[in-house]
Amino acid sequence: MTQSPGQGNALDNLLTESRTFPPSDEFAAQANAQPALYEEAKADREAFWAKQAERLHWDTKWDQVLDWSGAPFAKWFVGGKLNVAYNCVDRHVESGHGDQVAIHWEGEPGDSRAITYAELQREVSKAANALTSLGIGAEDRVAIYMPMVPEAIFAMLACARVGAMHSVVFGGFSAEALRTRIEDSACRLVITTDGQYRRGNPAPLKPAVDEAVAGAPSVEKVIVVKRTDTEVAWTDKDVWWHELVDSQSDQHTPEAFDSEHPLFILYTSGTTGKPKGILHTSGGYLTQASYTHNYVFDLKPDTDVYWCTADIGWVTGHSYIVYGPLSNRVTQVVYEGTPNTPHEGRHWEIVQKYGVSIYYTAPTLIRTFMKWGADIPAKYDLSSLRVLGSVGEPINPEAWIWYRENVGGGKAPIVDTWWQTETGAIMISPLPGVVSTKPGSAQRPLPGIGAKVVNDEGVEVEHGGGGYLVLDEPWPSMLRGIWGDEERYRDTYWSRFGEQGFYFAGDGAKYDADGDIWLLGRVDDVMNVSGHRISTTEVESALVSHPTVAEAAVVGASDDTTGQGIVAFVILRGGAGADAGGAEAIKALRDHVAKEIGPIAKPRQIMVVPELPKTRSGKIMRRLLRDVAENRTVGDVTTLADSSVMDLISAGLQSGKAED
Ligand code: WTA
Repeated sequence: MTQSPGQGNALDNLLTESRTFPPSDEFAAQANAQPALYEEAKADREAFWAKQAERLHWDTKWDQVLDWSGAPFAKWFVGGKLNVAYNCVDRHVESGHGDQVAIHWEGEPGDSRAITYAELQREVSKAANALTSLGIGAEDRVAIYMPMVPEAIFAMLACARVGAMHSVVFGGFSAEALRTRIEDSACRLVITTDGQYRRGNPAPLKPAVDEAVAGAPSVEKVIVVKRTDTEVAWTDKDVWWHELVDSQSDQHTPEAFDSEHPLFILYTSGTTGKPKGILHTSGGYLTQASYTHNYVFDLKPDTDVYWCTADIGWVTGHSYIVYGPLSNRVTQVVYEGTPNTPHEGRHWEIVQKYGVSIYYTAPTLIRTFMKWGADIPAKYDLSSLRVLGSVGEPINPEAWIWYRENVGGGKAPIVDTWWQTETGAIMISPLPGVVSTKPGSAQRPLPGIGAKVVNDEGVEVEHGGGGYLVLDEPWPSMLRGIWGDEERYRDTYWSRFGEQGFYFAGDGAKYDADGDIWLLGRVDDVMNVSGHRISTTEVESALVSHPTVAEAAVVGASDDTTGQGIVAFVILRGGAGADAGGAEAIKALRDHVAKEIGPIAKPRQIMVVPELPKTRSGKIMRRLLRDVAENRTVGDVTTLADSSVMDLISAGLQSGKAED
């Protein structure tokens, strides 16, 4: 039996969500963003971006806003010169805000430190002098492999200050992952710590660096911050941060670099092949990071306390902890540890302690909070929160509603922000105070950004239709390529819709009846059931909309009759009850999906599992679940955050208990 999918859509649109939440009059009146912003950008896009670039201090003004003649390699603010670190630090001291706290740092064991802009300026200057003393300067590559300690931020800004490129490697990655990244961009220096706190205990970190450096001859020096006081082996390349940096002068004159001077490389894994070193440059990147942070989060630098829970090992930590927020003179919380150390209310305790007003996190964490139960946030005073954000995956409508009710007090606007390591900054998001939000939708390209949903031929789909998300205009913070591999850059992003000149993001998406955009997951994960192209996101959202389910992952497994059959893995909510995993309950879940989105999407099989396989940044690895669903040996698990998860899932499957 085959049915043709509707109207040539590359992806079916099955789930309808009709709730909307208009902004309150009070919020709208005080919002940084006003409706005219959209008009202004539409009237003259380049003039609009030039105005946003004026948010920054330029030592030399640009003479051309955009040069796209070398497409797909863009140049923004051509001829302009600036220092990125000066823009994030010094200018705030010079404007009289040296005593403002830049960073409220909270260590996992409960130690804390408040760092003012004046102090940040001294720390970054000392670190910059230290880099210069080691001969590190413009265009050298520096690997930063650190937990969330203040020195990690000092190190990133010090690199920016002297024009060196940082390559931050997440502290949870293995020695081998670190080595390949160091090698790919031939880093001369590594900055690390002796150890890191993880779930209440100090764990060594430097041994991984020793192992990586042994196989990476480009590395000349390793700077080590003392964090856990763990005993470490020492080589003649090693130098303590407190010995090298603390003895430097705290005065440093920043040099202005070209707008297109490289700022950093950040490796993303993708689904196959070796990690891609995504390259970002200075002026355009900082302009868009600063612009989006100001309008999407409605930042008021004098009164807000902002907290982005990402790790600096991910792009979110780069753009929305370091560059965007600091360029906007933020006061922000930076937290070192895990959300359940020492207890599951740790985040809410921190929100209460610092009076956090803007909170930006990932759906994976929101669903974890759902699993832990609403009674936990209820114990804390969260009334300071006025804007909530989400990033990293589609947020299921039910998780969105849970977030709004239990964290946002039923009133804080939620901004669902779609973007990628490659885009450098937020691209699609509602503007709080302007747009009526919809649970589960990232809604509209920001003013100045062009995005569309198109079919296989690259033609925009109708409202109500699904397809591929493309970006049809160059944007200031776009990647400037993949380090050392121009061919791969063109192939990966520009070949699918090369004729039309669209950047293909790799994500499925749909328009609703109003033309708002809903993200539907990676197109590699799309399931084909009896000729219907069904997105994983819609079926997962239908499952999470059932009161017993906290989190769900679905995959297509080969099926003799239908081509693929839908197999679902679900995690139950705290307090779901003992019967929630029984045969009756599973049947009810399958029926629930059929009712929500139609019989075609009814899972063939549902398994209750204690955990789901996720990458270290929290994205579900459906590839591994497909292996389980098709009874194959589970493939490469090296990018899994916790490799024992697959054993748990397979064990549950074999016992047969979890099957429908
Ligand atoms: C997904 C993270 C739906 C998407 C900033 C994208 C999202 C990939 C959203 C990039 C969102 C990110 N809604 N999906 N709001 N935000 N994604 O490079 O598949 O770690 O292509 O950047 O995450 O992930 P990356």
